[in-house]
Amino acid sequence: MTDEIWDSLLPNEYRVLSPYQWTPIEIIRFTWEYLKTQSVYSVMDLGSGVGKFCLNLVQFANGSFPVYGVEDRKGLVTVSEKLMLKLKITGVTFTQSDFLVNFPYGHSHYYVFNPLYELMKGEHSIDFKKEKSAIEFIKNIQILKHHLYQCKKGTQVITYHGFGGSVLPGYKIVKKKEWELGEWMVWEKE
Ligand SMILES: C[S@@+](CC[C@H](N)C(=O)[O-])C[C@H]1O[C@@H](n2cnc3c(N)ncnc32)[C@H](O)[C@@H]1O
Repeated sequence: MTDEIWDSLLPNEYRVLSPYQWTPIEIIRFTWEYLKTQSVYSVMDLGSGVGKFCLNLVQFANGSFPVYGVEDRKGLVTVSEKLMLKLKITGVTFTQSDFLVNFPYGHSHYYVFNPLYELMKGEHSIDFKKEKSAIEFIKNIQILKHHLYQCKKGTQVITYHGFGGSVLPGYKIVKKKEWELGEWMVWEKE
């Protein structure tokens, strides 16, 4: 899979967002290279978009662990599920839900590509259904931090372009790589 092939599978409205909103294949491959050295029970993508991270990770991993995605935009969940069927991919489950409200506890690994930042910027937005608000952004980061704090010891959170803050209470940084594409980090619950 390449980013170009992946993009060609998307409806145009989501294809144009690809460089800004969906994880590049190179980063997904690098995440897999890291995960295969770890003991992984399951991976949850918080804000799974068009399913690019989940669908490509499960293929790299050849089904060695289940992958889940939670996404609050119904249209994006529909696209993810259609791609899953079209590409005949198994081992992935997508759910339409707000992870701030119904946090999906119980996974060994979480993937976070700065999902809350959309409240801060006007460019390359998926849509304009969510009102831009710095106050709401800060409030939501606090809620996410609170949920991640409740996760059990050893839980790992992999961030790409960060999670929206600089400190994740209860977590230490165990790996970090600066890509030209953006910063990739692994945080572990102590
Ligand atoms: C930057 S995109 C990343 C998409 C995907 N993880 C990937 O790497 O290709 C962030 C996604 O998070 C979703 N999102 C933002 N806030 C959310 C929330 N509270 N609950 C569920 N999804 C959310 C957005 O709709 C968007 O699809």
